[in-house]
Amino acid sequence: MQIQRVAVLGLGYVGLPLVRACVANGHEVIGFDVSQRVTDNLALGISHVDDVSDSEVKDWLAQGFLPTADASMLSQIDVFVICVPTPLSSDGTPDLSAVESAARLITGQIHSGRRPLVVLESTTYPGTTEEIVKPILESGGLLAAQDFSLAFSPERIDPGNATWTFENTPKLVGGYTSQCADRAEEFYSSLTTKVVRTKGLKEAEMAKLLENTYRHVNIALVNELAKVSHLLGIDFWDVIAAAETKPHGFQAFRLGPGVGGHCIPIDPNYLGHRVRAELGQSLRFVELAQEINASMPEYVAHRVVELFAKAGSSVSGSKVLLLGITYKPDIADVRESPAYGVARSLRELGAHVSYHDEHIAQWDVDGEAVARVAALAQSREFDCTVLLQSHMRYLECLDEISSPLMLDTQGRVARIGGAHVPAWSTL
Ligand SMILES: NC(=O)c1ccc[n+]([C@@H]2O[C@H](COP(=O)([O-])OP(=O)(O)OC[C@H]3O[C@@H](n4cnc5c(N)ncnc54)[C@H](O)[C@@H]3O)[C@@H](O)[C@H]2O)c1
Repeated sequence: MQIQRVAVLGLGYVGLPLVRACVANGHEVIGFDVSQRVTDNLALGISHVDDVSDSEVKDWLAQGFLPTADASMLSQIDVFVICVPTPLSSDGTPDLSAVESAARLITGQIHSGRRPLVVLESTTYPGTTEEIVKPILESGGLLAAQDFSLAFSPERIDPGNATWTFENTPKLVGGYTSQCADRAEEFYSSLTTKVVRTKGLKEAEMAKLLENTYRHVNIALVNELAKVSHLLGIDFWDVIAAAETKPHGFQAFRLGPGVGGHCIPIDPNYLGHRVRAELGQSLRFVELAQEINASMPEYVAHRVVELFAKAGSSVSGSKVLLLGITYKPDIADVRESPAYGVARSLRELGAHVSYHDEHIAQWDVDGEAVARVAALAQSREFDCTVLLQSHMRYLECLDEISSPLMLDTQGRVARIGGAHVPAWSTL
């Protein structure tokens, strides 16, 4: 493929790995972000995303990468890729304002002579590309498929996962027409090892929601089974370890303190909203999974109360240390992290809550700062330690963690090599 002039709109966890792939494959890349702070830092070679190092950004800059918050720089572009956030509004419905504003910005920059490709990568409900993005792009008088190509290609990046990256994870592509899909397939084939075409735009949009809803529902399933197993006196971690020896027809999901991040707690709601708006019915699996997963932080606090009661003491007035407050291991992202709910519930029960997390320098919950503990060995000063996230550091320095009560919500330190470590309780 010829070198393309690519504009990546939205330079976050999704946009920057795409920039990396484009630069590595010889394309000219302009990165546009509405945040001047983000683009200024990138221009100085400073990354704000875990999986992208400062030295990589410096390399990209040396190869011509241009980060900017100035929309007028987006001229003469062959491929526009939209990687902006798709959060929920305060009433829980999809907030597509960033997608709409990125599409409006592109509208002013596409010219029929160049016939650019426009791709939406942000996760959203089926119908968005055709019903929301296409009319905005066509509002300037040009037509999709005739004057520009239009496609949806969901991003499947898994921050912190060194095995499956942008480059080796198959890339789904759905086109507005099959010619649009051809164009998108050609572009992504220059970046990744495998491109898979869907029948159309909606199938690609829905595939992403199927992937995330599948995780959400299965995590809720194990969370609920873990709660009842505890009441029945069954070690559910042992149950999972046993079940996953079946080589077919079963995939192991693990319980935990709840779901977090930008995707799992949010994306299924996009699907639920669409089904309600279009069909007037609820998506019961999604709502149930939401309810169960959202109950987990409070359940963790309840299990802490139980530990204190067993030891003949009370959580009220106690000192509790939370280990790992990010929503995934070994990344610095606390968005939607269940740690917020755990800290909130423990405070309501009268505990004095502190945290340890080398990835997060300061943290507040509901506007109130949570005290940070710098050294793991300080866990000795606490009545109870609750491991919320199994950062590699904790697995490597287990012997530094010590307090009278210890709860492992991840089943990683309390079961080493399948054997229970007596000092720890599991969720
Ligand atoms: N983070 C993930 O693991 C992941 C994985 C797959 C898909 N996604 C989806 O990808 C999309 C982006 O997610 P992310 O995690 O990269 O978000 P992010 O918050 O890390 O980055 C988004 C960037 O877009 C910028 N932005 C906001 N509005 C903009 C606009 N109108 N024009 C240009 N830039 C704008 C923000 O300033 C921010 O820097 C979302 O739809 C998300 O659901 C995320």
